[in-house]
Amino acid sequence: MEIARSIAELRSTLAGWRQEGAKIALVPTMGALHEGHLALVGRAKAECGRTVVSIFVNPKQFAPSEDFASYPRGEAEDLEKLQKKGADLAFLPPLAEVYPDGFATSVRVTGLSEPLCGAHRPGHFDGVATVVAKLFTQSSPDRAYFGEKDYQQLLIVRRLARDLDLGVEVVGVPTVREEDGLALSSRNAYLSPAERQAAPELYRVLSRIAGALRADPRAVGREIASGIDDLSGAGFAVEYLEVRDAESLAPMTSEVTAPARVFVAARLGRTRLIDNVPMTPK
Ligand code: PAF
Repeated sequence: MEIARSIAELRSTLAGWRQEGAKIALVPTMGALHEGHLALVGRAKAECGRTVVSIFVNPKQFAPSEDFASYPRGEAEDLEKLQKKGADLAFLPPLAEVYPDGFATSVRVTGLSEPLCGAHRPGHFDGVATVVAKLFTQSSPDRAYFGEKDYQQLLIVRRLARDLDLGVEVVGVPTVREEDGLALSSRNAYLSPAERQAAPELYRVLSRIAGALRADPRAVGREIASGIDDLSGAGFAVEYLEVRDAESLAPMTSEVTAPARVFVAARLGRTRLIDNVPMTPK
């Protein structure tokens, strides 16, 4: 596996691969790699000739009160996992390579960035859109792979690529879960043993709501209210629990009328967890 730390090195390796006719995949990550990330790499490798994985903890998507400083980092372990999985290149740019002095540009995808996590983490998706736009222009991949666990992020990145004519196909990959249903996330490492035991309730509640709405698409109000009660009873502080259109993120507050997702964000102690499941009316 090759390692690039500058945009020039990245571009020079990719130019060679493109000359050989290889289709290039990009898997953007912030490191602390787990099986969810490795599933993205596996899918990328199955569909493209060369797979690039970027590792960059992006300060622009963290608010000053958030966990940028303590976000889990482990370059050596990450590189070992990528090597084993068969990635072709790891791109690990230092901060000044991504945001040199005087950097002054911000990318905003309006509409999709506003509800759900956008309402609770002001500026977060501008930071994501800015760094992803840069990674896309630095590497010009044919395809880029993102997890459905961050479903709102996936929609925002897809819109960004389309609106800016970046020529990259954005592929969503289903969430990888622990056996008890907890979605894999680098932030699960923050959970205490007691919180870890309570955490799968998030997916249980989402699954129950999706099942109930399949049986009765008009029961949104009732199901959301009882979901919030259940999560609060299990020790979560719920930020949002909502049903929204799977493409536009338009809210569905009374009836599910089109393919939708049930979205949740909730805190267990100091750990903020998010998850979502699909729900298609019969
Ligand atoms: O999902 C993530 O890990 C990050 O938001 C991303 C897409 C790598 C941008 O920093």
